[in-house]
Amino acid sequence: MTDSWTVLKVLRWTTEYLKEKGIENPRLDAELLIGSALDKDRVGLYLCYDQPLHSDELAAIRQLVTRRASREPLQYILGQTEFWSLPFKVVPGVLIPRGDTEILVEEALRILQQQGDAPDGGVTGSVLDVGTGSGAIAVAIAHSCPELAVVALDISPAALELAQGNAELNGVRERLRFCRQDMAHLDGCCDDGHAVNDGRLRLIVSNPPYISRAEMAELMPEVKDHEPHLALEAGEDGLDCYRLLCAQALRCLQPGGWLVVEVGATQAASVRQLMEQSGLEQLFQRDDYSGIARVVGGCAPATNSAEVEVEK
Ligand SMILES: C[S@@+](CC[C@H](N)C(=O)[O-])C[C@H]1O[C@@H](n2cnc3c(N)ncnc32)[C@H](O)[C@@H]1O
Repeated sequence: MTDSWTVLKVLRWTTEYLKEKGIENPRLDAELLIGSALDKDRVGLYLCYDQPLHSDELAAIRQLVTRRASREPLQYILGQTEFWSLPFKVVPGVLIPRGDTEILVEEALRILQQQGDAPDGGVTGSVLDVGTGSGAIAVAIAHSCPELAVVALDISPAALELAQGNAELNGVRERLRFCRQDMAHLDGCCDDGHAVNDGRLRLIVSNPPYISRAEMAELMPEVKDHEPHLALEAGEDGLDCYRLLCAQALRCLQPGGWLVVEVGATQAASVRQLMEQSGLEQLFQRDDYSGIARVVGGCAPATNSAEVEVEK
């Protein structure tokens, strides 16, 4: 690139370059990267196609394009993404929220709406987001339910720091509690000394790691080489986290409370089985927009046997 290059010429060159490097949407990525370097949105970029670029602008573009050509995810380079039509900051080391996960949020909100909030001893209590990552699910739910308290749990300090920033960014910080804990110990305490839950959760929602060891090798370079494996891999068959969540669900949920999880493309039947074995009822699943089962849920019995045990 030389400094006689215009925005349009650089855009065309970058699009071709990214295409050669195997990038899926080269034109869109080129527009967003060049726009970011020049501090312009896509419309602003169209409006200055004929503008010649200075050497410092070309250097800034080159730096971003080189990162993308090495298959670093676009969102890490831009430092932001959108989820549930809300802005989220993203940083390397924390999973980028995916559009598919909005289906999990939709199901969580449907359940919360069904439960209602009866003043005569009906549903109260909070929601627990296990493996909150960027805070996408917890923030989206809190944003949609202005009265609700949400506990956002993760084992990763980097994730919790980012999730707190995203809660602030979206105006829900005061209704979220952030908890560093291993999902194997949902009956334990968070860093702040408070219990993760009081055994009366109305909803546990989770998009846990669910990639099997064999599948890890087949992931796209953007995911395999740049996103945290802690957020992706879940043992030999990818079901380890579901086993943990199902084993603890009845102890944490109030009677009639729900466990709702995102699942991998081939995992719905196995996760349903785990839920059934753990005593959850009214199992359901929901497909994504390509017809793949993406969310599985189950409900604690109206008389929660785990609770009866404690009362004896
Ligand atoms: C697939 S990511 C989901 C992130 C976010 N909820 C979303 O949907 O974009 C899974 C998250 O679980 C967290 N995690 C992995 N193992 C964990 C464990 N044993 N206990 C708690 N969190 C864990 C990871 O740090 C990661 O943030």
